[in-house]
Amino acid sequence: MSTTYTMDAGTSRANPTPSPLKRLTVPAIRRQKGATPLVMLTAYTVRTAQLLDPYCDLLLVGDSLGQVIYGLPSTVPVTLEMMAAHGGAVVRGSYHAVVVIDMPFGSYEASPEKAFESAAFLLKQTGAAAVKLEGGAAMAPTVRFLSERGIPVMGHVGLTPQAVNALGGYGARGRTAGEAEKIVADAIALDKAGAFAVVIEGVVEPIAVAITHGVSCPTIGIGASAQCDGQVLVAEDMLGLFERTARFVKRYDDLAGRISAAAESYADEVRSRAFPTADQTYAPKE
Ligand code: KIV
Repeated sequence: MSTTYTMDAGTSRANPTPSPLKRLTVPAIRRQKGATPLVMLTAYTVRTAQLLDPYCDLLLVGDSLGQVIYGLPSTVPVTLEMMAAHGGAVVRGSYHAVVVIDMPFGSYEASPEKAFESAAFLLKQTGAAAVKLEGGAAMAPTVRFLSERGIPVMGHVGLTPQAVNALGGYGARGRTAGEAEKIVADAIALDKAGAFAVVIEGVVEPIAVAITHGVSCPTIGIGASAQCDGQVLVAEDMLGLFERTARFVKRYDDLAGRISAAAESYADEVRSRAFPTADQTYAPKE
């Protein structure tokens, strides 16, 4: 694929693909339940979106950008403005995948009306197709309120990182029968309220099985086994940009190692004057 940027005057998007792909829709994602597993990765920047888009059904502008991009201690400090800025970049960098934006902590929990205002802001600012919010049955009225007003909502149950202060950490959830039942009931409540998909994070496999069989919408797992209708990972985790990751992450590359090696070569060549050469130097016109 060419990485030359040409401006697409119709959409004002930097367009690295020879022929833009047709973008998937939320109803098409819903129809994928039980069929070929859905592929979702996080993306926060235009260039990453461009590279991941052809291979993904969904791109998630996750509030994990708080830690991955901004070095924050958790997702709790992430703001609507941060999500809007990165969401716009990911929409501009993609043609194929459905772009879903996380609603940050504090932007939706107080009331369905508050959630609508925040979600509408995100969709207007970015052009994304849908939002994701964390929480179970308590959020079902909000999911219904948004869905009935034209905002597709993806739910997120199990390990919900925005609740880290209440949960006390990022360990797997649902190890007791009571907690397992609650997580399954949470997902069913979101499905009944109209969620078009539900992320299941960090749960023991039987919970993922019970949810996937118990809901009409697709389930997308992260640390929730192969039994879900799709999978999601944080792109930087699966690319190997971090030394420490959760057990459920599989590394498909060693980007950290490759970036360090490239930086080391660059530094050596600058210090030894091996870079730049004549190839990288402008000569006066003859
Ligand atoms: O914020 C995020 O990246 C997420 C995924 C891990 C599901 O919510």
